[in-house]
Amino acid sequence: MKLFRFIVAAAMSAACAAAPAQTPHTREHNFAGAEHWAKVFDDPARDAWQKPHEVITALSPAPDSLVADIGSGTGYFAARLAHFVPKGRVYGVDTEPEMVKYLAERAKREGLPNLVSIAGRPDDANLPAKVDLVLMVDVYHHISDREGYFRKLRGSLKPGARVAIIDFRADAPNGPPKKDRIAPSQVKSELATAGYAFAKEHTFLPNQFFLVFEAAKP
Ligand SMILES: C[S@@+](CC[C@H](N)C(=O)[O-])C[C@H]1O[C@@H](n2cnc3c(N)ncnc32)[C@H](O)[C@@H]1O
Repeated sequence: MKLFRFIVAAAMSAACAAAPAQTPHTREHNFAGAEHWAKVFDDPARDAWQKPHEVITALSPAPDSLVADIGSGTGYFAARLAHFVPKGRVYGVDTEPEMVKYLAERAKREGLPNLVSIAGRPDDANLPAKVDLVLMVDVYHHISDREGYFRKLRGSLKPGARVAIIDFRADAPNGPPKKDRIAPSQVKSELATAGYAFAKEHTFLPNQFFLVFEAAKP
């Protein structure tokens, strides 16, 4: 079991290390083959440290909420969120075309009409409506112009909307190379510059920080 967990963690590390490049070529190279990544991202062994149910419960979106899962990958969080907001909608946004296609097919396969797959751009989530909640898991460190990205994202938030950022801590045994990890203090400072107020920190994830922000009042 320990060996199995190690293999999954190592694959997650490889995935997270692979994705930072923002050029179309490398994104295509790294995340082509969504079926392969689904085995990594959706491996049930991940649940032990990713705690998806606890994460979603901590955020507790109302059943009719509009939620954006930015960098949704194969839908590990997006599909779970779609069950949690049966009267609402989940936009799963990804920049990798294979992930976008995979998520659309997954929504059909799993009978989730309220899960909508969206092709995002590296600098724009491309959301079709204003949302109540944004979740970003293991994606923050992949965005190059974060200040610009989050400034633009404010235009897609309903009043009182929350933005939750989860990413690997410096001391986590898995995750991207240490040089690519971003400290929670830096996330707070970058989002403050982009016009967000820090609202809450959850500390129950063993490998990742979990920060919640709201758009700052003008
Ligand atoms: C490490 S995976 C995490 C997937 C998912 N959040 C999860 O927890 O299983 C990172 C994902 O973010 C996507 N991505 C990278 N930069 C992005 C951006 N600027 N906007 C949206 N998605 C992005 C990648 O294509 C990849 O699918």
